[in-house]
Amino acid sequence: MSDKRTLRVAVLGCGAVGSQVVRLLGEQHDDLAARVGAPVELVGVAVRRLDAPRDVDVPEGLLTTDAHGLVARDDVDLVVEVIGGIEPARSLILSALHNGASVVTANKALLAEDGPTLFEAAAKAERDLYYEAAVAGAIPILRPLRESLAGDRVTRVLGIVNGTTNFILDKMDTSGAGFSEALEEAQELGYAEADPTADVEGFDAAAKAAILASLAFHSRVTAADVHREGISEVTAADVASARDMDSVVKLLAICELRPGPDGQEQVAARVHPAMIPRSHPLASVREAYNAVFVESEAAGQLMFYGPGAGGAPTASAVLGDLVTVARNRLAETRGAGESAYADRAVLPMGETRTRYHVAIDVDDRAGVLAAVANAFADHDVSIQTVRQEGRGADAQLVVVSHAAPDAALSATVDQLRSMDIVREVTSVMRVEGGDE
Ligand code: HSE
Repeated sequence: MSDKRTLRVAVLGCGAVGSQVVRLLGEQHDDLAARVGAPVELVGVAVRRLDAPRDVDVPEGLLTTDAHGLVARDDVDLVVEVIGGIEPARSLILSALHNGASVVTANKALLAEDGPTLFEAAAKAERDLYYEAAVAGAIPILRPLRESLAGDRVTRVLGIVNGTTNFILDKMDTSGAGFSEALEEAQELGYAEADPTADVEGFDAAAKAAILASLAFHSRVTAADVHREGISEVTAADVASARDMDSVVKLLAICELRPGPDGQEQVAARVHPAMIPRSHPLASVREAYNAVFVESEAAGQLMFYGPGAGGAPTASAVLGDLVTVARNRLAETRGAGESAYADRAVLPMGETRTRYHVAIDVDDRAGVLAAVANAFADHDVSIQTVRQEGRGADAQLVVVSHAAPDAALSATVDQLRSMDIVREVTSVMRVEGGDE
């Protein structure tokens, strides 16, 4: 066992985040020791290749390709996992906990897929498992949900939790560019990966939504429970249509408590592009920044804003967790574990109440507006506003609905698409952040 006065850290992964964790552990050694109450020493860094170029000089003799061997050492008190992905990260974390280490991870995909296995292992080992860096990079949002708001009742979490897609949508809004052009620019500037699927199709945001919903609503929510739509189908016409309504398109992660069919509260969790009014605080989140808007009964509305990605910002969140779990080790205690006591069911997307903005090109003749209104009425969807612009023999109708079950809104759009008087449904987008 390690000397109690020194805490020994193993870092798994030395990429963009891991290299910054290693750098900060070295540069802030004395301050960290003062804040923790004991020195925090790096004892090993597991990497795939010893000779890969990296952004930090790892102290002599600390690099190893044997990650399993590193977490099995009996002198390691704290393990930082920044490899990402499901395996070998899961086995390594489980092994670290089993061997008595506390763990800090930034692994959103693993937590959203199999969090309960990790939390149960941490509880059994009586060790901490902290993961602030898994959602929205440097922004402190998990600790506020888990600790600061633990005495309140959170009802809604609405976030921009993916920087890549926010950069692309912001570019489309400011320059009028289409999706492909904006994606290309994001790739050139290093915001988007060569394979951008995880970001643009909403997988990354859905994993983060699952983590946020689990913490906010004290229930187990996995990525598979989150309705997911990405931004690859968002067109320049959608963005222009939003602009006409003084709104902006954002990829939102929305987690909320909603009454289910039996009146019991359920968790609704979804990720999709949506129009929000430019006056909404999330509309001002530009470029690759993230922000999370939390609504709770006693506190009211809170917003957390900052850099949601990048090596150093993410390492900041990792180090914050590391200080906490190190202090806990010294005090021979642990922080709060998983809180899933409420055990709320997940509300299917079709039953979740949303609002739609629908732009339709129609013939400009008598009865057309009534026919369109009837399509909404057929599905019991109430219309909030209608705007019409004449275009010679054609007209464009822009309809914004009141809130209705998502399945009813989707069926309304299908019906509109099948009507003879409708030339084209040019834009369909959910609307958030206004009056229902
Ligand atoms: N790729 C993510 C983003 C950061 O663009 O926000 C890591 O989750």
